[in-house]
Amino acid sequence: MPTKDAGADRPPFVEARTLVKLFGGMRVVDGVSISLAHGEMVGLIGPNGAGKTTMFNLLAGSLKPTSGEIRIDGVDISREGPDKRLMRGLGRTFQIPRPFGEMTVLENVLTGAQGQTGETHWMNFLRPGRVAAEEKAAVEKARGLLDFLLLERLALEPARVLSGGQRKLLELARILMADPQAILIDEPAAGVNPALLELIIDKIRALHAQGKTILIIEHNMEMVNRLCGRVVVMAAGKVLAQGKPADVARDPAVINAYLGGAA
Ligand SMILES: Nc1ncnc2c1ncn2[C@@H]1O[C@H](COP(=O)(O)OP(=O)(O)OP(=O)(O)O)[C@@H](O)[C@H]1O
Ligand SMILES: [Mg+2]
Repeated sequence: MPTKDAGADRPPFVEARTLVKLFGGMRVVDGVSISLAHGEMVGLIGPNGAGKTTMFNLLAGSLKPTSGEIRIDGVDISREGPDKRLMRGLGRTFQIPRPFGEMTVLENVLTGAQGQTGETHWMNFLRPGRVAAEEKAAVEKARGLLDFLLLERLALEPARVLSGGQRKLLELARILMADPQAILIDEPAAGVNPALLELIIDKIRALHAQGKTILIIEHNMEMVNRLCGRVVVMAAGKVLAQGKPADVARDPAVINAYLGGAA
């Protein structure tokens, strides 16, 4: 019989080790180390321009770090691109959702389907039946996700009709098509009306309850307080503080960074 918690020796699901990203001469990310345990929900906060979204781009693979290392489940994946990282279970949403406006909501969600046999023209030629079955399954899955996110009634509308908050929900649906174990969510509350905000909080909570590992960038501190037991504060490319939201909010260095940004 195991004597200790089976998960105790597990590496973090996502780990960044002393990441650096230079843009021109600017150290936009300046030696940041963060880690997310399996199933953890963490907030990444900090003033505008702190380097938060750049961290997401580095973690998700859309930017290459100048130096440092990124691990998923203990494996160094620093050289892998976004698609490979998604296949390993790391998904992300974008700060500014840009759905294909003329495509339907459902079609937009389907763009998140990964590794579909039908993606190769040869398979379509050789195994049309199998491709059709997979497409049908993908549509059912997409409809299930739209149902979960209360967008089902808009499934056949062009995505351009969606409000800011509905676009945030569509981003979640799209990424959930790939069944990521971890999701990086960039500003889920930005441009969202209060009623929809409650829905988004509920859905993020539900995803966490399903066991997903979640990192949320957010300026809305009420939302962060309600969702995250731990926050990491970035300012000017560095981690300034981390801990419980209430504790970091009292940290003079954190208060200074926010006031400095506002001044
Ligand atoms: N592709 C780029 N090329 C040059 N500079 C960039 C690039 N992307 C971001 N920056 C700069 O890097 C800094 C950090 O930007 P980033 O978007 O990561 O900040 P953020 O913390 O997400 O801010 P916000 O809260 O406003 O979204 C900013 O000064 C920004 O202008
Ligand atoms: Mg940002």
